[in-house]
Amino acid sequence: MPGDKSISHRALLLSGIAEGASRITGFLASEDCLATLAALQALGVRIERPQPREVLVQGSGPSALHRAAAPLDMGNSGTAMRLFMGLLAGCPFDSTLVGDASLMRRPMERVATPLRLMGAQLATVAGRPPVHIAACSDALRAIEYELPVASAQVKSAILLAALGARGRTRITEPAPTRDHTERMLARFGAEVLRSGSQVALEGGQVLRGTRIAVPGDFSSAAFFLVAGCLAARGTLVLENVGLNPTRTGLLELLRQMGADIRTHPVAGAMEDAGGEPVADIEVRASVLHGIKVSEALVPLAIDEFPVFFIAAACAQGETLVRGALELRVKESDRLAVMAEGLRTLGIEHELLPDGLWIRGGGAFRGGTLESHGDHRIAMAFAVASLRAGAPLEIRDVANVATSFPAFVATARAAGLRITEYGS
Ligand code: S3P
Repeated sequence: MPGDKSISHRALLLSGIAEGASRITGFLASEDCLATLAALQALGVRIERPQPREVLVQGSGPSALHRAAAPLDMGNSGTAMRLFMGLLAGCPFDSTLVGDASLMRRPMERVATPLRLMGAQLATVAGRPPVHIAACSDALRAIEYELPVASAQVKSAILLAALGARGRTRITEPAPTRDHTERMLARFGAEVLRSGSQVALEGGQVLRGTRIAVPGDFSSAAFFLVAGCLAARGTLVLENVGLNPTRTGLLELLRQMGADIRTHPVAGAMEDAGGEPVADIEVRASVLHGIKVSEALVPLAIDEFPVFFIAAACAQGETLVRGALELRVKESDRLAVMAEGLRTLGIEHELLPDGLWIRGGGAFRGGTLESHGDHRIAMAFAVASLRAGAPLEIRDVANVATSFPAFVATARAAGLRITEYGS
């Protein structure tokens, strides 16, 4: 599996503001992570890539960053934009963050609001990018903040700003979200205090360069977890995948549906992996049945819903997902776009304000599916081809390169009959 996208972004960002050298292996060389890498270089960080998946970063602390000559282009990446907002909020120079058409439509006030409470000056255009961050002449101040939405990106942006702030910042989450930033900060030598739904960080801590072996991305493995369940027969083994419990909601959901999935921990991998558990995953062809998804699992499976909806459409009986409003503000409106695709596939469903109801079990019709430039939608529809009675044409797929550049080759190796054309 390709390297984890969330962890690759964080490994770069923390290396870029640490003192000393860091070495990142297993790096995800996808468009999103390369946008983060290029932005750090534009801010003055020295970075080399001796191999496509190896990155050497020579950090000199946050004070060595300087004003970028041009707006920083975050491409399609919400994570990059939101984490850079936190990183740059306390810097003594102006920055402007822009992105592609999808990113320019996504909400940024959820990050700007807490950063303003810390004393930063940020401007959005009606809540969306471009984001302008004004030079900060004095240190930011710590805040106590209750996140209105369960978002690891918002939490991480505040933590990055809190590193350089005066005092102890305390964040309370409405529900657990991915904790890669907290784990990795500890790996870079920072003290992060965690208790229940709270995370606290004392400002003024210095990060020290380290080495990070990025594990495989669970969110990329997700397509093959579902494909392995839908397969006619056989076993698929996905090696070296990050199994952080704040990311693996899909494992739980598929198991509840009857999937035969076993995990085999990779011994001794955790320390180098930035404190992340790593395992090989074995999935066998399984007969799935529909479930009612617990709302508590939604943030733990947030990026996996496109392919989960395909699993639900193949499962016997009804599946209901509620409490997933956040899916409407991802790279596309993933509820509406998946509902449109299910209609084309001939699957009975109902689009709800904050979720989807699906009656599964029928064979899919062939046809043309629009991914609306959303990488995870495109890959989810590719998995749907396993149950389609006629070919599926999936349009607007270039953004698969934002998270999984080798998807087509990997899917072919796993037995999907898939051809890429027109790019
Ligand atoms: C991410 C957090 C999630 C997720 C995104 C990556 C991260 O977004 O959907 O793909 O790396 O922190 P939210 O934090 O906005 O839910």
